Amino acid sequence: MQHGGNKPKEQYVHSVFQSIAGKYDVMNDTLSFRRHKAWRKFTMKKMNVQPGQTALDVCCGTCDWTLALAEASETGHIEGLDFSSNMLEVGQRKVEKLGRKQQITLIQGNAMSLPYEDNSFDYVTIGFGLRNVPDIKQVLNEMKRVVKPGGKVVCLELSKPTWQPFKGLYYFYFRNMLPFIAKLLAKRYEQYKWLPDSLMMFPGRAELEQIFKETGLQNVTSFALTGGIAALHIGTKESQHV
Ligand SMILES: C[S@@+](CC[C@H](N)C(=O)[O-])C[C@H]1O[C@@H](n2cnc3c(N)ncnc32)[C@H](O)[C@@H]1O
Repeated sequence: MQHGGNKPKEQYVHSVFQSIAGKYDVMNDTLSFRRHKAWRKFTMKKMNVQPGQTALDVCCGTCDWTLALAEASETGHIEGLDFSSNMLEVGQRKVEKLGRKQQITLIQGNAMSLPYEDNSFDYVTIGFGLRNVPDIKQVLNEMKRVVKPGGKVVCLELSKPTWQPFKGLYYFYFRNMLPFIAKLLAKRYEQYKWLPDSLMMFPGRAELEQIFKETGLQNVTSFALTGGIAALHIGTKESQHV
């Protein structure tokens, strides 16, 4: 994976996910108080995937979203891409257990340079992944490149609440308590300290909406979830005019 100046962040993130893969699902449930399930459900409802539609799930990790896409599409082919072999291994086991092996292909690759032709998928999604990549704009450009004209780029990600005093409370939990809970439950502190650090550097909901627009996506909409702890962004690639 050749990305020059992006290497240190990329390598660090890679080592974090290689190390927490086995505990990722249970930690997600615990640290988000299972809110991530509701956010995923809301997202699928807004996407309204139709039978037979295709999707690429970038930074698919342990494949929760990949599987939801496959279920909604029923027969359409779904690809999941991630650079952590350990996360993909957990994902592959879930795919097989749920009988979706024929429908889902998992690939080890980098979100910064997607190994697909232009205009390949009806949907290209990224769940809790954009915060982790070295260059948000490059990844969104790549997602836009591989989605079909008229198709959608969808991002579900942690975000920054704007409403005080909720904001203060939330930041206290996130910065001071969460890494300690992770230390107790998963014997991981450093890896979960990455979470608040990565959020601080990430754009808020309105800023990310602007970045979606700058990428050239159309009809960009965003939704604040659970008081702005998370946000859903959806943009459409312009249809080709004949
Ligand atoms: C927080 S997990 C999210 C997993 C999954 N999408 C979900 O919704 O639970 C972030 C994932 O992004 C992957 N990732 C981070 N940077 C990446 C990159 N540059 N290329 C590919 N995968 C990356 C990590 O390996 C990890 O599996």
